[in-house]
Amino acid sequence: MTATEDVAAGLPVAAFTDAMSRLVSGLAVVTTRASGRPCGLLVSSICSYSVHPPSVLVVVDHASRCLEPLTHCAEFGVHVLGSAQERTARTFASRGADKFAGVAWEWDGPVPRLCAAPIYLRCTATAVFDHGDHTVLIGEVSRTLVEDAEPLVFYRRLFDWRLRGSGARRL
Ligand SMILES: Cc1cc2nc3c(=O)[nH]c(=O)nc-3n(C[C@H](O)[C@H](O)[C@H](O)COP(=O)(O)O)c2cc1C
Repeated sequence: MTATEDVAAGLPVAAFTDAMSRLVSGLAVVTTRASGRPCGLLVSSICSYSVHPPSVLVVVDHASRCLEPLTHCAEFGVHVLGSAQERTARTFASRGADKFAGVAWEWDGPVPRLCAAPIYLRCTATAVFDHGDHTVLIGEVSRTLVEDAEPLVFYRRLFDWRLRGSGARRL
């Protein structure tokens, strides 16, 4: 076991990010409309938040170009990705000019919906709060579309849904 300083103020960023890289997470693309066009980003910070009302929590970096549209929209979409969607994950983790050009998508009301995602949640934005360099968004889920698929899993900076550590592609 590797010990590091446990005083929060003095904790090196690398110690924190290394610890967090060992947390197994799913990956999702969060989308909304910005000036009439779709925008979206990849997040690992997605979790079920409450059952009554059904809601999810996502966390967005202040540096994200989607932050402003997401904090001002009435609705947004959450797309939990499947193992076949590593390319989509990389596209939405980029700062490309048109991330939607190469993926099948459609408007679901005001929400851009990625057609191939095995889990789609249409969310009404209900709460927003800042902490540090990120903003937490709570979305109340109004619609779900679900298909069976193997999940896209992120672990130790690898897309590695079987958690084998080999054969997986490094970021
Ligand atoms: C595996 C992975 C997980 C990520 N998780 C998050 C996240 O939870 N929140 C976030 O704001 N950015 C996250 N990012 C970074 C964004 O996807 C990335 O900064 C993206 O370029 C933002 O796009 P935008 O500026 O067009 O909004 C993640 C990236 C990767 C590769």
